[in-house]
Amino acid sequence: MRDFLLDLDDSVGRRAGLERALRDAIREGRLPAGTLLPSTRSIALDYSMARATVVAAYEQLAIEGYLIAHQGAGTRVADVRQSAPVEPESGNPWPSPPTADFRPGEPDGGQFPRSTWGQAVRRVLSDTSDGAFGYADPRGVAPLRAVLAEYLGRSRAVAASPESISVFGGVTSSFGFLAEVFRSQGIERVAVEDPSLFLLRDVFGLLGLTLVPVPVDSEGIEVDQLQQLDVGAVVVTPAHQFPLGITMTAERRTALLSWARSQNAWIIEDDYDGEFRYDRRPIGSLQGLDPERVIYTGTASKMLSPALRLSWLVLPEALRGPLAQTKHLRGGVSTIEQLALADFIDRGDLDRHLRTCRGIYDARRAQLSDLLDETAPWLSVSTAQAGLHLAASLTDDRITESELVERGFHAGVGLMGFAPMWLGDPTTTGLVLGYSRPAEHQFPTAIERLAEVLQPLG
Ligand SMILES: Cc1ncc(COP(=O)(O)O)c(C=O)c1O
Repeated sequence: MRDFLLDLDDSVGRRAGLERALRDAIREGRLPAGTLLPSTRSIALDYSMARATVVAAYEQLAIEGYLIAHQGAGTRVADVRQSAPVEPESGNPWPSPPTADFRPGEPDGGQFPRSTWGQAVRRVLSDTSDGAFGYADPRGVAPLRAVLAEYLGRSRAVAASPESISVFGGVTSSFGFLAEVFRSQGIERVAVEDPSLFLLRDVFGLLGLTLVPVPVDSEGIEVDQLQQLDVGAVVVTPAHQFPLGITMTAERRTALLSWARSQNAWIIEDDYDGEFRYDRRPIGSLQGLDPERVIYTGTASKMLSPALRLSWLVLPEALRGPLAQTKHLRGGVSTIEQLALADFIDRGDLDRHLRTCRGIYDARRAQLSDLLDETAPWLSVSTAQAGLHLAASLTDDRITESELVERGFHAGVGLMGFAPMWLGDPTTTGLVLGYSRPAEHQFPTAIERLAEVLQPLG
């Protein structure tokens, strides 16, 4: 038996205390990669705990990527220092994915249509001419722009032609292009919904534009407030506000469009999850109401996978020239992936995939809402039945948002609060609960673990 000194904090519970002590020791390098851990039996003896508790803690840390269990050869410390991402500041302290992951932002990787996507790639490789393996049109390959124009028109009421579409490697990268264009037009200030997705709006800030926060109420962005501001563009999420989850009302849409016309300002419509609506047909795009005033952006990140790095802008005519001039700014997207997406949409595979996913995510959304109603009535949900997340605001001062997130962290439950989403002073606290990340077979267990985290408040 080897000596093994751990600084156990029992106040969070025996198992959570052991997990925390091991995590800290591994992160801080006191237990370097490759270190053989004592057997669960000897830890249980040394620290007077049930062996099952130690086994559960080891299993949890193995899932999180801190430990590697070798059949018959003990458990060793994994090389987290190399493989773990640096801890970002924005409420995401996980060195590797938690076991029950309710953070928003990613679809279930297990739903990715590997087989049909593979068939699409194979068809592209066998049917495409050799010429396609050279440099492609920087706006994106013609077959994809044609198919997207048709798809966006019928599914999202977007007024698009192949000439208006430009393919990018994610909404984030298309915002980089827009920032350059705005600056060349003398625009220095861009309004954003507050709260909104920090990663996305920060692109404008990083590229030298000033971000101006505008509050959002139950109807959408407060256009009255916008009228007081001197801004050249505004970014909105009308179908499903991120993160509050409300749908912009028809009145607000009209008011926003008339504001933009009167100010000669651009509206950027981020339609990141508009395909997912569960209580009725999806709401059509804002862009369809004024294609020369609204810049529409959509992405494959929610409906298929963020790993594809595929997104698209539908541009007003006035911005297509600047686009041609800034093509050097774009990294471009693999022609093969673009052609595969064109094939995938054209054959009806995307519609089939979305239909399946809607069924799965709708059931999860309902389960999560029921859990919150029963277990945590102090979290108030006012989100539309749409998208891949719901917003739950705290209505009880017995616990704070950061305490909730912290409590989740120690129980292996990934939670995200509103805090990183605010640009101005926060007016809501609570959780932005994504229900799409866990694998389908793990969702029931994930829900149980979330219930444990929320339960103690009654
Ligand atoms: C509000 C919002 N917009 C856009 C995106 C998609 O960004 P990208 O296409 O860069 O993956 C996301 C993804 O999380 C999002 O939450």
